[in-house]
Amino acid sequence: MSCTISGIGLAGFGTVGSGVWQILQEHGGLISSRSQGSAALEIRKIAVRDLAKKRDADAPAELFTTDLMEVVNDPAVDIVVELIGGTDAAFDLVAAALRAGKPVVTGNKALLAERGAELFALSKEHKAPIHFEAAVAGGIPIIKAVQESLVGNRIESIAGIINGTSNYILQRMTEAGLGYPEALKEAKDLGYAEADETLDVNGWDAAHKAILLGSLAHGFLIDYKEVYVRGIEKVTPLDIKFASDLGYVVKLLSLVIERDHGAIEIRTQPSFLSQKHILASVHGVFNAVAVKGDHLGDSLFYGRGAGQGPTASSVVSDLVEAARNSRSDRGFIPYQESGKLVEIDETSTSYYVRFSVTDQPGVIANIASILANHEIGISGTHSPVDADNPDAAFVEMVFLLHKCPFGQLKTALAEVEALDCLTARPVVFRIETL
Ligand code: NAP
Ligand code: HSE
Repeated sequence: MSCTISGIGLAGFGTVGSGVWQILQEHGGLISSRSQGSAALEIRKIAVRDLAKKRDADAPAELFTTDLMEVVNDPAVDIVVELIGGTDAAFDLVAAALRAGKPVVTGNKALLAERGAELFALSKEHKAPIHFEAAVAGGIPIIKAVQESLVGNRIESIAGIINGTSNYILQRMTEAGLGYPEALKEAKDLGYAEADETLDVNGWDAAHKAILLGSLAHGFLIDYKEVYVRGIEKVTPLDIKFASDLGYVVKLLSLVIERDHGAIEIRTQPSFLSQKHILASVHGVFNAVAVKGDHLGDSLFYGRGAGQGPTASSVVSDLVEAARNSRSDRGFIPYQESGKLVEIDETSTSYYVRFSVTDQPGVIANIASILANHEIGISGTHSPVDADNPDAAFVEMVFLLHKCPFGQLKTALAEVEALDCLTARPVVFRIETL
């Protein structure tokens, strides 16, 4: 068996980077055998910020540098792996690698969703592919599935739980009754959260992944500035409890749906989902992506969406692919210049709306009448009463509302907010039936 060794330049030796090192130490021989010698991989340079930091994985000290560009410029490096995160230094590194004609493997969804247009153009120009399986849903091979396995389908919809950190936090709040800060700390300690967890909890990490999936499915780069995104930071234990009382769970859902006229509805937000829906049983760090193709019908991809092992597993799969064929048409070459996105105000679902109110006669009637004036139907109400003290003032009033466009609901709620019985802004969750 003849064997060509591909030299790897690894930028980043944190949670994922050190996981890649460990997999290659453990399974390097197996990987080489499986690829008939075409993917013998050797890490030849590792860039980090701090050389003195104590690390779990024991790579030789002489491989380390703090100069990111060494990872690209070292002539012994054939493939560059970017696992430093962020959109600035990572952009410069990836752009330099592509200009040098070196294939890139990255797990950086923020970089590709926000600056992909420039990088994919460089990739095309220099015939150097960008592989990014690890950027979406950790260990689940969803990029290859959408790009390759489902290539014969028009993708009608993608519905995903694609941020492990927020899913873990919501579950710990639901099942262990933890407060938001304690649940977040656990997710960080487990290596699920980003170095800066802001993007995990404000919905943007999931939105970046949805943008990548939507772009692959529909052939044009979706502009992240046009995408509607809400996070889980404001989800309260009260709404989680009410959801449960009403037969729902709260999940951070990312949706990419092709509407009849060909426009794409894309949004990420915490939503109510029936406890009976298959995605309701996706717990903790697990992710799931439900893809509907016009010929395939429904399919579901499920697995660990974050953490060292699953993510490094995806990076190694891309490394093998890069070493094996070095095809320059890998990565993403848009095949449409642009596409149309649906305005968020035109998207329709049912809703859960919680009003915090003072207990005074006519409150329910006033709210109901405003909703009726805007032709919004009420399918149910929920207002827990203290069984031992039925005369106690009610302060939380939940309305379940029939399907209507989001813009119509916003207009009605603006009017409700002007009522003096409201003590806080209404809390709105979409109820997704998918
Ligand atoms: P991490 O644990 O914070 O590791 C980042 C690594 O990059 C560290 O080794 C750090 O050096 C190095 N680094 C950062 N900036 C640098 C710079 N300017 N120059 C040189 N080295 C630099 O991050 P991670 O969790 O491994 O994530 C890495 C990437 O994978 C991110 O894009 C993330 O979104 C993506 N990802 C992560 C997961 C996950 O579960 N963690 C899953 C999927 C995708 P020091 O060690 O010296 O600080
Ligand atoms: N922070 C991300 C998450 C890592 O929690 O899903 C995987 O992309």
